[in-house]
Amino acid sequence: MSKTLILNFHPATTPSRVNAALARAVADLPQTQIVAMSEALDGEGLFDNEAEAQRLFDADRIVLQFPIQWYAPPALLANWQAQLLTYLFYIEPELGAKLEGKPVMVAATAGNLPQAYTAEGINGFALEELLYPLRATAKRTGLDWHQPHLVYNANQLSEDELAAEAERYSRRITQFAQQTALIDA
Ligand SMILES: Cc1cc2nc3c(=O)[nH]c(=O)nc-3n(C[C@H](O)[C@H](O)[C@H](O)COP(=O)(O)O)c2cc1C
Repeated sequence: MSKTLILNFHPATTPSRVNAALARAVADLPQTQIVAMSEALDGEGLFDNEAEAQRLFDADRIVLQFPIQWYAPPALLANWQAQLLTYLFYIEPELGAKLEGKPVMVAATAGNLPQAYTAEGINGFALEELLYPLRATAKRTGLDWHQPHLVYNANQLSEDELAAEAERYSRRITQFAQQTALIDA
């Protein structure tokens, strides 16, 4: 038994074409669960700490999927970190310790082109560099960071290009599962 949990942090405040297509592409992969985190909030805009922690405990690997907004993951992911990771690693650290060594991978979509995300480009930094705070968070929380899966030019993809990106994502999630599969002793 080997379970991949994909948390989709696309905010409900903006429409989704690309992340929705990526989510559809992996929804039927074996042992894979994808969760729309915008729908996991209660009426006060809070996550259920115990339920969200249980999702993480039950998974063998975790994927954090989101669109880049304002050069960073969306506020929905920041809120999840502020609430759930605070609960797991500051309030109940013996619970957070249960996640030690669990593989984690970011899957991020960005509107701009790869050449914009260079030192000389319009954004001045590589997308991987903008993800350093998440990578540092993975290190602090004992999660095993894997190379991010990145989609550029997200707003300009033709239908064929979007289908190819969906296929590429499905292959990467399958590969991530194989690469991090637990070996039964
Ligand atoms: C409020 C907002 C801020 C954005 N900021 C960035 C940005 O800083 N860099 C970038 O490359 N794209 C940016 N984009 C484009 C999104 O990354 C792009 O629309 C998204 O990845 C496409 O996926 P979706 O169709 O699932 O929303 C932004 C989009 C919105 C709505």
